[in-house]
Amino acid sequence: MTPDDMKRQSALKAIELVESGMRLGLGTGSTARHFVDLVGAKVKAGLDVICVPTSIATRIQAESLGIRLTTLDETPELDLTVDGADELDDHLQLIKGGGGALLREKIVAMASDRMVVIADLSKRVPRLGAFALPVEVVRFGWRSTEDWVHSCIEEAGCSGPVTLRSGPSGEPFITDNGNYILDCALGRIDDADMLHDLLKSVPGVVETGLFLGIADTAFVADENGVVTLSAPINAA
Ligand code: A5P
Repeated sequence: MTPDDMKRQSALKAIELVESGMRLGLGTGSTARHFVDLVGAKVKAGLDVICVPTSIATRIQAESLGIRLTTLDETPELDLTVDGADELDDHLQLIKGGGGALLREKIVAMASDRMVVIADLSKRVPRLGAFALPVEVVRFGWRSTEDWVHSCIEEAGCSGPVTLRSGPSGEPFITDNGNYILDCALGRIDDADMLHDLLKSVPGVVETGLFLGIADTAFVADENGVVTLSAPINAA
């Protein structure tokens, strides 16, 4: 089974949660893409749902599949968001934002009664941090913000290079919200709450890719099937 097959298996598990009448958040990335395809197929077969995409890319995909879309302005509360992750630990703490959609992903997840993560086994880690933590920052004064980000990293007991994310032709990557991304290669994050809180206290930081206490369930696929993980009761 290829990693892509596993992504699809986890998406197939998540689609079982979807019922007519639901308001859904649609995640971003190669795993969420499978889920959106499955929603599209069900919509063609008569499923009645309304969805909020977490990125322009997902909006384009959903539109091409005939999925009825709304915005959080029109529909501020959702029933379920299904999204991928770059890393998840046993407590369902996540790193997200590898695709640069972390801000909208977090806003949509927080507007939802439930966030369910779909992933292949490669995303499951004993401790967050091997994947470089994306931090979305406003373009104005980003070099000063980067200095503050370094200070926060140090204060949280972490270390590692911080890099301005580049696009395909080497120019700075711009998020759907017009911001930059700083990728923080920390290796390990021992206190994710502390790091997140420190980073969020910096004025130029818009959001971090740490999703803490947001997801309640994860479907993680491996060669043998799909394992269901649940967040600790007080974390969801
Ligand atoms: C998008 O910004 C990310 O948060 C994705 O959800 C995450 O990177 C997982 O993407 P893949 O499913 O492509 O690995």
